[in-house]
Amino acid sequence: MLMVMKSLVIATSGGDAPGMNAAVRAVVKLAASRGIAAHGAVDGFDGLVHGNFRELTRRMGADVVPIGELEGASRLGGSLLGTARSERFATSGGRERAAFHLREHEALVVIGGNGSLTGAHILGQESGVRVIGIPASIDNDVGCTSFCIGVDTALNTIVEACDRIFDTASAHRRAFVVEVMGRECGYLAMASAIAVEADAVLFREQGLSNEDLLASLEQTVIRCFDPARGKKRALIIKAEGVRMSTPDIVDALQARLDDSTHRGASVRATILGHLVRGGNPSYRDRMLAGRFALGAMEALDRGGRDELIAWQPFGGVGEATADPRVRRVPLALALAETARLLDGTSEVTRRRVLMMQRLESVLSL
Ligand code: F6P
Repeated sequence: MLMVMKSLVIATSGGDAPGMNAAVRAVVKLAASRGIAAHGAVDGFDGLVHGNFRELTRRMGADVVPIGELEGASRLGGSLLGTARSERFATSGGRERAAFHLREHEALVVIGGNGSLTGAHILGQESGVRVIGIPASIDNDVGCTSFCIGVDTALNTIVEACDRIFDTASAHRRAFVVEVMGRECGYLAMASAIAVEADAVLFREQGLSNEDLLASLEQTVIRCFDPARGKKRALIIKAEGVRMSTPDIVDALQARLDDSTHRGASVRATILGHLVRGGNPSYRDRMLAGRFALGAMEALDRGGRDELIAWQPFGGVGEATADPRVRRVPLALALAETARLLDGTSEVTRRRVLMMQRLESVLSL
C-alpha cells in the first residue's frame, strides 16, 4: 500500500560533498510530483534544532512545484541549504527540539556521511521521526553502500591535482608526498593511488609504525631515482588519517635520504585538504544523487523508516528497489557495518588492505 504524505524535510549534514545539491533537487522534484511539500533545514541539523526551515516547493493551483532557485542546483558543489557538524543536535535536548520542529512533517531525508546518519538514526529511535538516509561523503566511509555521493568528484579532483604535481615533480626530479582527505577511512588514497601512477600509498588501515613507514618510503624513493630506471619523480599518496603528519614524514624522509648513499633526492609535500571537497559534481555523482533520491522516495511511498538508500550493484543486504543497483538497508545494519569499516574488522576493509598490499611492490616498479 502506498503512503500518502503531505510534507517532508530535507537536510544536508556533516562535511559537504559534491552532488548533495543534486540529491536535494531530485528529492524535491520527486516529492513535488507526488504533491508533497518539501522543506530544507538550513545548515543541517542546526536548522532542525532551531526550526530554521526553507520552503523548497510552492503551490501553483492544484500543483506543488519546486522553487526556481533549485534550477541548475545539480551542477553546484557545496550545499545550497548549508551544512554543519551540529553540537546541539548531539545532545538529547537538541534532538528533542529537532523532533518538536519536525512534528508537522511526516519524514526527514538526511543527506550525509557516517556521523550524520548516526544522528538521524538516533533521532528516529528516540522520537519516532521517520528518517531516510542518503549516503554523501567524499570519504566513502558508510557501510553497506559501495559508493557515497561526492567520492567520484573528489577522486577526479585528486587525479587532476596529481597530474599537475607530476609536471613540476618531474621537472625538478623530486619526490612528493600528497595528502588527501580521509580522517578515518583511507579509501580516497587507495582509490586514487593507482589512477595517478603513485609509487606508494599510505593509509591508516595499514597500521604501519612510523619506523616501518619511513623505511619503506626511503626504499621507494631510492628505487624511483635509481639512474638505471629513468624515472623523473616519485609520488606518494598519503591519507589524512595516517598518524604521522605529512610535514613530519617529509622532514624525516628527507633526513634519511640526505644520510643515505643516495643523496640528492629532495622531498616536497602538498596537502590537498578541503580543495578535494569542492567543485562541480561529476556525472557519476549526479547520477548517484538522482538514483538515491528515487530510492528514497520509493522507501517513503512504501512506508519505510530508519533506512539507508544504498548503492549495491551486485545485490546484497536489505530490500530491493525498482532500481537493480539501489537497495533499502536498515540504518542500524548500515551503521554497524560502518563501525566495522572504520575499526578494520569489516570484510570490505580487509579486502581493500589486502589488495593494496598485493600492489605495493608493483606500484614502486
Ligand atoms: O567530510 C569528511 C572529511 O572530509 C574528512 O575526511 C576530514 O577529516 C573532515 O571532513 C574535515 O572536516 P572539517 O571540514 O569539519 O574540518
